[in-house]
Amino acid sequence: MRLAGKVCIVTGGGSGIGRATCLLFAQEGGRIVVADKSLDAAETVAGEVGEAAIAHRTDVSDSQSVRAMLKQTVDRFGRLDVLVNNAGYGIPGSVVETDEADWDRLMAVNLNGVFYGCKYAIPIMRERGGGVIVNTASVVATVGIRDRAAYCASKGAVAALTRAMALDHVAEGIRINCIAPGTIDSPYFKEMLADSERPEALRRELEQRQAMNRLGTPEEIARGILYLACDDSSFATGTMLTVDGGMTAR
Ligand SMILES: NC(=O)c1ccc[n+]([C@@H]2O[C@H](COP(=O)([O-])OP(=O)(O)OC[C@H]3O[C@@H](n4cnc5c(N)ncnc54)[C@H](O)[C@@H]3O)[C@@H](O)[C@H]2O)c1
Repeated sequence: MRLAGKVCIVTGGGSGIGRATCLLFAQEGGRIVVADKSLDAAETVAGEVGEAAIAHRTDVSDSQSVRAMLKQTVDRFGRLDVLVNNAGYGIPGSVVETDEADWDRLMAVNLNGVFYGCKYAIPIMRERGGGVIVNTASVVATVGIRDRAAYCASKGAVAALTRAMALDHVAEGIRINCIAPGTIDSPYFKEMLADSERPEALRRELEQRQAMNRLGTPEEIARGILYLACDDSSFATGTMLTVDGGMTAR
């Protein structure tokens, strides 16, 4: 029960890594706000968790929506201990191919979403003497991959912002870290394959990118997020935990 009594928000909690994180956090005694732009998805996951969870329709790219998520959390549970800024997505394309509006939309979710979450959660945590934030970055924060220019840029910025915020708020008892997953078999990944003209070949290629020759599971990433969210990582702040089947080891 490593999160016994802790109040935790997971953005993008309606699917994939976020869903697995909500389920694991609840097993560890956490009370969960499943925040997702899809209310249906959030409600389904909150239903899987049971009484310890509520669902909130949140668009992390909209600061008002993020503030409403935080307000509802405090109104309902009286506190906030853990924020997992996990909502995000990728788009294909080199920088030349990337449409300006698509770039802006992606940054609004992947980067501004983390900014808004932290900007408005930190004062709430500070008031109670501390808290923990975990941001979902990616291995692409440290290694380049082809055909994902905007996505790589957004995740690199999440890692840099994590380090900067960790230093700014260490004296306030707030730890801020990020997780860097390799390629994970989530609904997002399945959608990407479905959009491809050669899904089987692409799947094999992406499996082989990991030294372990397989994809990771959302549950394997959730266990890394749990480590960063609970006191097991009490000496860690401003760091990035890479869980990538050895992808960046070579
Ligand atoms: N799957 C991978 O291979 C992989 C690898 C590294 C990092 N990541 C990152 O992990 C995170 C979760 O990805 P996943 O694979 O579980 O994806 P997913 O698509 O299965 O789940 C993402 C969830 O985020 C929600 N979401 C999207 N935009 C949102 C918004 N504006 N506001 C609130 N919710 C929003 C979606 O509705 C969805 O429920 C993302 O930040 C992604 O970039 C994924």
